Amino acid sequence: IKNIGILTSGGDSPGMNAAIRAVVRASYYYNLYTTGVIRGYDGLIKNEFMHLDRKSVANIIQRGGTVLKTARSEGFMTKEGRELAYKNLRAKRIDALVVIGGDGTFTGANVFSQEFDIPIVGLPGTIDNDLAGTDFTIGYDSALNTVVEAVDRIRDTAESHNRLFIVEVMGRDSGLIALRSGIGVGAESIMIPEAKMTVNDLIDRLERGRKDKSSKIIVVAEGDRSGGSFQIGETLKEKFPNYDIRVSVLGHIQRGGKPSCMDRVLASRLGVAAVEGLLSSKSGVMVGLVNQEVTYTPFSQAIKHIDAETVTPGWMKLVDILSL
Ligand code: F6P
Repeated sequence: IKNIGILTSGGDSPGMNAAIRAVVRASYYYNLYTTGVIRGYDGLIKNEFMHLDRKSVANIIQRGGTVLKTARSEGFMTKEGRELAYKNLRAKRIDALVVIGGDGTFTGANVFSQEFDIPIVGLPGTIDNDLAGTDFTIGYDSALNTVVEAVDRIRDTAESHNRLFIVEVMGRDSGLIALRSGIGVGAESIMIPEAKMTVNDLIDRLERGRKDKSSKIIVVAEGDRSGGSFQIGETLKEKFPNYDIRVSVLGHIQRGGKPSCMDRVLASRLGVAAVEGLLSSKSGVMVGLVNQEVTYTPFSQAIKHIDAETVTPGWMKLVDILSL
């Protein structure tokens, strides 16, 4: 290997820049060149590259977003798109790839590495934390801190007005942001797809709960399958006409902002491990950290969503106990 191409793809996450920096600096350390691909797989297809060297990644470890830009590529889902991408890679003399992203990114990388002769290693960059093969993904901790800060503010006003707030957090298919942030903000209840709770279950919990609380916060994952945050709000309004209820959707603020120190360190460790993995002939794998040890998990395994297995009833019991 002489020249590693680096791209970020799918939804961005805080810490992606720290990961890019680590891959570039590790490549330099091991006497390899690096080339940046702009806007993920779309940039590969459209031949959009940028120079990346150890100096060009200075001063980005603390920045949110991704200096390489990102996109969700329709073109890469087609055989013709991937053929063009490979042709462009070869023309640029890129002979290995590091892809930073989530399940969509690794699904694409998996197909590409099977079709063409190019080693690919992935770095888990998503706020959702929904990848197998790593305890935490790059960006998850930062997003949690953003959610906690925002919901603490909501709690202040909820307390002043004696209100019940339904707060929707990101996680299209996964409740992991809702789960941990919910515990972090002392939520009265959490609605996540993995727990398969219905609105009636929520009503039961509220009826059983303490009535003298001056505020209540219910954290709902975007991927909730019981009807979604606004529907939950309507149902609760009908059931509890005396409650003053508001719905607040946090949205994309969760994806921006400075990465936390935890995410910077995780991105830095994994970025170096990605280059070392490529140098020891690894391909078709995602680098992760499991129990503080670097691990390499095949893309096909990594993209299997973490679901009820990890989100055990134990976690939901924790919420029950803590919200008494
Ligand atoms: O990055 C993952 C994610 O945050 C999901 O939880 C969310 O549903 C999705 O991105 C939204 O992304 P976009 O607005 O870019 O489609």
